Amino acid sequence: MTLQGKRVLVVGGTSGIGAAVTRMAATAGADVITASRRDEALSSAPAVAHLRLDISEEAQVRSCLSGQLPFDHIVVSAGGAKPGKFRGQRSDAGALAFETKFWGAWRVAAHAPLTANASITFISGIFAERPSAGQVAASCANAALEALARALAVELGPIRVNAVSPGLVDTPMWHAMPEERRTAYFASVAEKLPARRICSSEEVAGLVLACMANPSLTGAVLKVDGGYTLV
Ligand SMILES: NC(=O)c1ccc[n+]([C@@H]2O[C@H](COP(=O)([O-])OP(=O)(O)OC[C@H]3O[C@@H](n4cnc5c(N)ncnc54)[C@H](OP(=O)(O)O)[C@@H]3O)[C@@H](O)[C@H]2O)c1
Repeated sequence: MTLQGKRVLVVGGTSGIGAAVTRMAATAGADVITASRRDEALSSAPAVAHLRLDISEEAQVRSCLSGQLPFDHIVVSAGGAKPGKFRGQRSDAGALAFETKFWGAWRVAAHAPLTANASITFISGIFAERPSAGQVAASCANAALEALARALAVELGPIRVNAVSPGLVDTPMWHAMPEERRTAYFASVAEKLPARRICSSEEVAGLVLACMANPSLTGAVLKVDGGYTLV
C-alpha cells in the first residue's frame, strides 16, 4: 500500500515522534495535516496544512474535525504525564495524564471523518508494560490507550487501529531537563539496554508508517524500546 496522495492527520505532528511521522509520510507522498495546540510556525515538519487543536477539549475536537474531508490515516502522538509519588496523590494528577493521552485519542477517533479503510495509530509508551516507580499515571494512561486500540480494532473494522509503544525517545519532550543532565541520563539508560541505544523519533515513526501500510495489522501494540521490557 502506498501513501502517495493519502490524507494523513498527525495530532502532535509538529514535534518529536509526530514530526518524524509527518516528515516520513510526506516523503512517501502523503498530504499530511498536522494538529496541535500551537501555531504551525513552530513546526519544522512539512505539512500541507495545520489545525490549531487542543484534544483535551471535547468541543474543540468536534468543531475542528467535523468540517474536514475524510482522512486515510490518523496518528495521535500527544500527551504525557507528570511523574510523582503515588501515595497521598490526588486523583486529579492521574486524570490530567488521561485527559490528552487517553480521552484525547478517544475524541479524535470518535469524531474525525475517516475513509472506509482508514487506519488509526496511537503512540502509547512502554510504562504500560513495564512500570517505573513514580510513573503510575503514565502506566495507566498508556495501558488504557492500548486497550482502546484493541477495542476500536473490533468496533471499527475494517478500519484498523494499532498502537506503537516506544521506550525512551530523544525528543523535545525531554528538553525541560538541562542538556548536560539529559545526555548523562540517556547514556545511563542506553548502557543498560540490550540494544545499547536510545530510540530516535524516526525509529518510532518507521513503525507508525508500517501500521498505516500493512492491511492486515490491527489491534496490535508494536514495541520499539531497545529491549527495555526484557531487562
Ligand atoms: N519521548 C519519549 O521518551 C516517549 C516515550 C514513550 C512514549 N512517548 C509518547 O509519545 C508521544 C509523543 O511524545 P514526544 O516525545 O514526541 O513529545 P513532544 O516532542 O513533546 O511532542 C508532543 C506533540 O503533541 C502536541 N500536543 C501536546 N498536547 C496536545 C494537546 N492537548 N492537543 C493537541 N496536541 C498536543 C504538541 O504540540 P503543542 O504543544 O503545540 O500542542 C507536540 O506537537 C506522547 O504521547 C508521549 O507520551 C514519548
